[in-house]
Amino acid sequence: MFVDRRNSGAEKFDRKRAPGNCQHEDPLYLWLADLDVPPPSCVHKAVAEFLASDAFGYVETDIGAAVSHWYAKRGTLAPSFTPVPLCSVIAGVHTAISIFSKPADSIMVFTPTYGPLIDAIRIAGRIPLYVPLQAGRPTIESLYPSASMLLVCHPNNPDGSQFSEETQRQIARFCQQHDITVVSDEAHADFTFGESPVMPWAALDADAISLASPVKGFNLAAIPAASYALIANQTKREMFADAVKKRHLSASAVSRVALNAAYQQGGDWFTDVQHCLHKNRVLSEQLASKLPGKITWSTGTAGFFMWLNLAAGLSVNDTHARLDRAGVVLSPGESFGAPGWFRMNLASHPEVLKEAFSRLLKSF
Ligand SMILES: Cc1ncc(COP(=O)(O)O)c(C=O)c1O
Repeated sequence: MFVDRRNSGAEKFDRKRAPGNCQHEDPLYLWLADLDVPPPSCVHKAVAEFLASDAFGYVETDIGAAVSHWYAKRGTLAPSFTPVPLCSVIAGVHTAISIFSKPADSIMVFTPTYGPLIDAIRIAGRIPLYVPLQAGRPTIESLYPSASMLLVCHPNNPDGSQFSEETQRQIARFCQQHDITVVSDEAHADFTFGESPVMPWAALDADAISLASPVKGFNLAAIPAASYALIANQTKREMFADAVKKRHLSASAVSRVALNAAYQQGGDWFTDVQHCLHKNRVLSEQLASKLPGKITWSTGTAGFFMWLNLAAGLSVNDTHARLDRAGVVLSPGESFGAPGWFRMNLASHPEVLKEAFSRLLKSF
């Protein structure tokens, strides 16, 4: 299942682009969030057929049936409303901020989290209000009633934490009471390993904006497959769709073809990959438990990451230097608002993970 992608042009294996300053002769690249697994062949076939067809010019390809099919298969509520196609999840975040909040408004964001969400608040001239997660959970008391929006990364990149449906409902109630719009980045919602699938916020709160895509679940960043927004409230959905149209941020025809193939025909591939990722998570947890006790880590219940605090008892600089010397390239926590922490991508061959933990054990 896992393949060697060195020398394939993949950004993850490019020494110049890798974070840190790793001079090791054989670096282990476990950072950027893609899978060392080729995408399902049904996507290759569908995209190749589309490119060989006469469907040039503007083409309007529906993605609604495929999205409903996939959500029902994943075990979450199949949306009964039409998704708004988007060129990317983060384009959807920027659009939602620009139309559902005003300049100088305050926007809550849970930390640690995916850096581009915080960037999006700043770029729009809104004020970020950081709400630290405690063991992957927020408390209602830590929310700000004065905010106009809540940006959620659910499940959370980097720590894989996923809220229970009850927690989601409590947050949704708070936000409804205080007229706060929830914008939820659900890019990592496909790979779940806990008891329940990730419930889209749009299924719990009619005013929420859920943003998702098959890019992470089906490893389609290079195409990329279409992203989309789910918004139950018809007025809000139409406002959002209009803003996407005016900004030319809709999904391309070929990206919609990729989504349709992945969601409708890629189920068996997905199940196999999820099974391998589960085994990698268990293996990594066993290996991480052998690291010095001061080092804490979590894998959460979703996604394909381990989130490690390697700086326990060390300076942040020393931590980076040790990692560089070990030749293990991880995503530094600085970009998630947590210096000293690192995100390890577990979607690689188990032998690579074993070697990475063996090097960490020697260096820390
Ligand atoms: C949580 C999260 N959201 C969004 C993205 C990027 O999505 P897109 O390229 O569709 O904007 C990523 C990519 O790593 C991600 O981890």
